Amino acid sequence: MQGKLITRKAVPGACAPERESSGGAADLWARVALPAASPEPPAEPVAAPGLRLALSLLEEGVLTSRANRSCGSYVARAVPSAGAVYPYEFAVLARENGVPTAFRIDADRRTCARLAAGARVTAALDASALAVPEDGGALVVTLTRPWLSMRKYGDRGYLYTQLDAGHAAGNLVLAATGRGAAGALRLRFPRESLSELLEAGENCREVHSAFLVPAAEAGQAGQAGQGAQAAEAFPPGPAGASWTRWTVHDDTDRQRRGPTWRSWLESTCWDSLTGWSDDSAPATLRTAPAPLARIGADPQLPDKQGGLGAPPAWPELIGTRVSSKAFTGEPVSAAAVRDAVSALSTPLETDLPGASPLSATLVLRSTTEPEQDGVYRLDTGERRAVRLPSTDEVARACMQQRALAGAAAVLLLHVPRTSLAGAGSSAGTENLRELAFRCGALGQLLYLGANRAAVGVTGIGGFDTPLWRTLAGLPEGDEILYALLLGSPDDAGIKFDRLATAHAQNER
Ligand SMILES: Cc1cc2nc3c(=O)[nH]c(=O)nc-3n(C[C@H](O)[C@H](O)[C@H](O)COP(=O)(O)O)c2cc1C
Repeated sequence: MQGKLITRKAVPGACAPERESSGGAADLWARVALPAASPEPPAEPVAAPGLRLALSLLEEGVLTSRANRSCGSYVARAVPSAGAVYPYEFAVLARENGVPTAFRIDADRRTCARLAAGARVTAALDASALAVPEDGGALVVTLTRPWLSMRKYGDRGYLYTQLDAGHAAGNLVLAATGRGAAGALRLRFPRESLSELLEAGENCREVHSAFLVPAAEAGQAGQAGQGAQAAEAFPPGPAGASWTRWTVHDDTDRQRRGPTWRSWLESTCWDSLTGWSDDSAPATLRTAPAPLARIGADPQLPDKQGGLGAPPAWPELIGTRVSSKAFTGEPVSAAAVRDAVSALSTPLETDLPGASPLSATLVLRSTTEPEQDGVYRLDTGERRAVRLPSTDEVARACMQQRALAGAAAVLLLHVPRTSLAGAGSSAGTENLRELAFRCGALGQLLYLGANRAAVGVTGIGGFDTPLWRTLAGLPEGDEILYALLLGSPDDAGIKFDRLATAHAQNER
């Protein structure tokens, strides 16, 4: 990329370093120098009840973790992310003094920028087949920022971006359900107007999904209809009041904002994605709760019951979830693994079709009931006639992540290659965003199920698809989108995946 010319003309108000260099020291200095910081508008308290509700849900569902762990400088969150880079952010649309208003959320600094209010917001939502929620409710929009993952992982970082966003968006649904206020997640809607309103495309962000969080109800809110108190009193406990750490500032006047910093590297990365995500299915207005993959009832479970269980227990599972750093190699109970895996059949309310091309295969390789070890298709329960992979083979199939090779079980999420053709282009096809959403949300359910069953778990993006296809006897035309490992955790060391070098992607 050396020598590529980037000018600032593309985006009004954007500040990208000029690269029309003749190579002198002064030019080099002009490149590395920082522009002046933009003025900061005065901070206001968070007043809109819907915004308070959305912020407390974001804190609980994505941004904070109560798990007891030593992380050094790394700030743990409620969801995992490849390399712990969290390549997404959020916007919230809610009524402020009765006026539909759009806020951009800065999760690191705990600030909300008011971007637009009034008719512009309503028009953008109308064009996106979305609605401004009633007072006290909110629309939480997830925006992916692929660059954050791609700068470490290259093109594969785009898959990780989608999987990570799937974990986050799926967990927002679970966190809201855990509070007793199920909302609906929309993935199939026209994105252009919303993207423009939120200044997403010009800032190298993609609109991923929109989650409608209903206003707190009388019983849950304690003081229904009391505006601010409604969100404050909902839910009980510290998460409900976590919005008090946040402030709002007004950014509706673009001229007053000053130039936005922009990296030519991010622009180049963004341009390389052109056309990748245009194949959206027609808008679907109907949402319905459904499991995200075909998972048959497990005959070995008591009462054949699946799912994550009673929602009031979910906030605790969400708050204390962690990724295992390594596995000891000791066997774990097959019943515990099955208990963890049963969480996959939890229904989530989305606008995706009930039937999906996605399949799940479970490799049970080292349990305390060796007669149960085997490779199972989770839709049919069929046991495949393949031998179990050795520890060396698991290490190789996980890109030599040796610390993880002692996993007792492996869950593979896979689709026929033909189903990747594009959302709705023919029956049974979905685009990468939709399929990866299913995988990320299912991954999140597995993390929570494993937490409930006291089994260690980690998602992995570094895996060798052809080798796993052979080891697990998957259909020849299937692609694996995501893999998760379960086992007896060893949390003494470091998490290699958080290092700057992408070891599990063959970077050396
Ligand atoms: C899509 C995805 C891919 C991941 N890939 C790997 C991996 O290949 N190896 C690994 O050790 N951890 C992997 N992780 C786990 C992350 O490293 C972990 O989530 C991150 O370090 C944050 O730690 P925490 O989940 O304990 O909060 C992955 C997580 C996700 C969501």
